[in-house]
Amino acid sequence: MPVCIAGTGSYLPEKILTNADLEKIVDTDDEWIVTRTGIRERRIAADGEFTSHMAAKAGEKALEQAGIDAADVELIIVATITPDTLTPATACYVQQHIGAQGAVAFDISAACSGFLYSMKIAKRLISDGAFSNALIIGAEKLSSFINWEDRTTCVLFGDGAGAAVLRKAGPDDGEILATEMGTDGRQTHLLNIPGGGSACPITIENADKRLATLAMLGKEVFKHAVTRMRQSAEKVIERSGLKPEDIALVVPHQANLRIIDAIADRLSVPKERVFTNLQHYGNTSAAAVAIALDEANRTGAIKKGDHVVLVVFGAGLTWAAAAVRW
Ligand code: ACO
Repeated sequence: MPVCIAGTGSYLPEKILTNADLEKIVDTDDEWIVTRTGIRERRIAADGEFTSHMAAKAGEKALEQAGIDAADVELIIVATITPDTLTPATACYVQQHIGAQGAVAFDISAACSGFLYSMKIAKRLISDGAFSNALIIGAEKLSSFINWEDRTTCVLFGDGAGAAVLRKAGPDDGEILATEMGTDGRQTHLLNIPGGGSACPITIENADKRLATLAMLGKEVFKHAVTRMRQSAEKVIERSGLKPEDIALVVPHQANLRIIDAIADRLSVPKERVFTNLQHYGNTSAAAVAIALDEANRTGAIKKGDHVVLVVFGAGLTWAAAAVRW
């Protein structure tokens, strides 16, 4: 049974943190950040604004565009590595915030790849007939898990949420044509938040909160990102019978402009057909590709009938891709 994307939504907090602002916090400068990453500014959630609040706002916009009432949502999947609480799942708070009392709700943890992992899971559950629709959300409050004294990571990340509504496709709808995902658990050390889990609980005796912040070996991650994203995108392009010239838009994970340029080159897709917004939001992990997809959709960069390739990469290491006819 074909499954389509019926609506998208996103939410970005109001507060903007520019590269100039970061120059006052750590030993960095705008030129280094822009030339190494492409990032100029990022959004930071307000105190009291949690991942579930941002997720709910993005989700409500996606539902509105899809023309589906929250009360009729059957499945909510939130992809996040910055949940409101370790338990219950952030998706349970989202269910409460939007009033989707009939929905089954759970989280998945696949870092920056989480939104496309959710898409594959939801697509399969809908095509199997278990649910007739799903609200999938990538949402992160990374600012709570950043060591603001570490210039190698604090300049890279931001907060936000993006969402999509999936449902059974009718004859006039688009279709999710192919999905692909992968994991390499040998590389867990390259990118992680070491503290806060059972391996290293943050306790009164062990109160160093920096343990519960993101640590990354950026150069190593970079190499894996380019290889895995290219391979993953190529698989969904081949499985859906597309050629590079058929692709109207590639919407990649928004981590680094140099990674995105390298992937565009290797896929033989011109840069004008690759969507970027990391200049404004930085890397929002699971939210990034979902926010980019919503912006591309709402600004007309994607039109009905277009073929779109989504491709992501993150901690795990994890990667995933999807080919969609809009
Ligand atoms: N400002 C100024 N200088 C800096 C900064 C900074 N903010 N950060 C690092 N430097 C310095 C380093 O100390 C180093 O100095 P040295 O040569 O004297 O030792 C120099 O700049 C070069 O550092 P590198 O780490 O080699 O820089 P690189 O070109 O590799 O860029 C970056 C770093 C941007 C992190 C890049 O490696 C990258 O984007 N990696 C991939 C990130 C990614 O894709 N993550 C995946 C998803 S994230 C998730 O899943 C949550």
